Amino acid sequence: MKLVSMGSALVIGSVMAVVVVGVSPPRVGAQPAQGPHGPGERAPVGPPVGPPAGGPGGAAGEVSVSRSMKGMGRALKAMKSHLGDATKKDECLKLVNDFQRGIVNAKGQTVPEDLLAGLSESDREKKTSAFRRELMTVLRTALDLEADIFEGRTDMAKEKLDALIALRDKGHDLMGLKEE
Ligand code: HEM
Repeated sequence: MKLVSMGSALVIGSVMAVVVVGVSPPRVGAQPAQGPHGPGERAPVGPPVGPPAGGPGGAAGEVSVSRSMKGMGRALKAMKSHLGDATKKDECLKLVNDFQRGIVNAKGQTVPEDLLAGLSESDREKKTSAFRRELMTVLRTALDLEADIFEGRTDMAKEKLDALIALRDKGHDLMGLKEE
């Protein structure tokens, strides 16, 4: 049969390929077939992503909403002071990334229980949806901010920062938080 003979040819071909590869001298500068992180995997670069061990949080290992928000607040403040300075572009790109990480951390969690206490089932649902919806908008705006910083559009970046501050105030209002 044709298929069987094709299969046999493939098997023979594979065996020959293995033999050829097996006797080939190693290429100069070739990467080892398997490093400490598994075959074909490169070691991670930069600080580890994810919450620090032992920090406060909801589920095991999660950074709490409060802690994520504090990080977002710090990043926003620092960006505000650096935005007009072309020499701080890399710093701003790092800050906007930290800010986005904070949003994603918070967005993946639920509204802290003390802010839901005493609410009817339908109001709980409304507040929970608003939390997710507003943080999605914050994330989109933060991506636009990143694009502006990246392309050197300082004026537009400043507008995005103002928009983020307005979104923060709106979000906190919806959550029933009082401004300090
Ligand atoms: C846009 C930028 C935002 C910034 C910079 C920001 C910043 C902050 C800060 C500094 C806190 C106080 C954290 C603490 O001291 O414990 C906080 C708390 C909080 N924020 Fe935001 N926030 C932002 C947007 C939002 C949005 C859109 C929502 C949801 C709609 C939200 C929901 C909350 C909640 C629920 C808390 C209370 C956390 C807790 O007490 O456990 N935030 N935020």
